Amino acid sequence: MAAIDLAGRVRSRFPIFRSKVYLNSCSQGALSDRVRDSYLRYLGDWDERGSPWEYWVERAEAARCSFAELIGADADEVAVTTSVSAGVSALASALRFDGGRGTVVVTDFEFPTIGQIWHAQELRGARVVHVPAAADGTIPLERFEAAIDDDTALVAITSICFRNGSRLDAAGVVRLAHERGALVLLDAYQAIGAIPTDVRVLDVDFLVTGVLKYLLGSAGLGFLYCRRDHLEGLVPTVTGWFADVDVFQMDVHDYSPSPTARRFEAGTPPVPSIYAGIAGIELMREIGIAQTAAHVRALNDLLLEGLDDLGARVVTPRQPARRGPLIAVASSDVHALVDALAAEGIVTSSRDANLRISPHCYNSTRDVTTLLAALARHRVLLA
Ligand SMILES: Cc1ncc(COP(=O)(O)O)c(C=O)c1O
Repeated sequence: MAAIDLAGRVRSRFPIFRSKVYLNSCSQGALSDRVRDSYLRYLGDWDERGSPWEYWVERAEAARCSFAELIGADADEVAVTTSVSAGVSALASALRFDGGRGTVVVTDFEFPTIGQIWHAQELRGARVVHVPAAADGTIPLERFEAAIDDDTALVAITSICFRNGSRLDAAGVVRLAHERGALVLLDAYQAIGAIPTDVRVLDVDFLVTGVLKYLLGSAGLGFLYCRRDHLEGLVPTVTGWFADVDVFQMDVHDYSPSPTARRFEAGTPPVPSIYAGIAGIELMREIGIAQTAAHVRALNDLLLEGLDDLGARVVTPRQPARRGPLIAVASSDVHALVDALAAEGIVTSSRDANLRISPHCYNSTRDVTTLLAALARHRVLLA
């Protein structure tokens, strides 16, 4: 019942549903009227005011505050970045691997950019240790117990794996890492907007994400949260003028990073994406993230039941605590399957040999039954 109510309430704000069954929010959230209007507002402001940089910088501050509220942080613990990659690169540049702790622990569930950035630190003396997944598509805590030791500087984990939808026991990893004196970086991109996320509850040291998936924004805007206690000791060498203590001092002879998390920023902020990002975050907060999580859980229960009836092989863990909005299903030819569904107006995506189905607040039970009916027609493409 809840599933019908939420979709019915919000769906008309997302024009794509007039022509498509959109089930690909793990790649990109659907465009809402509010986010579309925010782009028009940006163009209007540019047209009418010419170069309102003071206002645009104030918009970046509004994005910082909006995101900080969303994750239960203070605004000065949040850096406004252009991507997850930019935030993690700035953070990595502030760590020293010589002398103290020299190892970074990275799960095999990470988005490629995370692994690549930490491996790049090998050029600066870091050692990277990978934590592999088990055959059931989870990463049991014992694997972290084996990987984290008193040389571990940082553990990089992801809330939900973009490949198979597996949800990590983040609280367990944080507890273990902190017991052993290591920091934790959480990539929350596949959860934020679809699952309530509070950095004080999670107790993470750093969190990175962007807005283009379940936060309904667009490409070009990301955030890095850095717990206040760590700010002073972390001095990035990947930097730029927007990281300076006084952006408008314009001093070419000096590097004085901001005392706040702004020290992890770089160049000119991504103004159009900031308009869209604020609009997306505000819309998701209005719709309700806890309500969305319950709604998506109900849709995914229905989806899993239907997939079982079809004899499909679901690669996402079955326990509700070990999954989120993304359900991944094995396919014998996933590109053909995504194309066949697209030809019927159903938008999904793939990673590895898996079909990715990722419902959000705007999806209805009807979307799920329409997808299941199409999968029944293409059953030969299910592995
Ligand atoms: C888990 C996760 N991390 C990171 C990214 C993207 O990172 P970036 O903002 O650097 O492109 C994605 C996007 O697809 C993702 O799913």
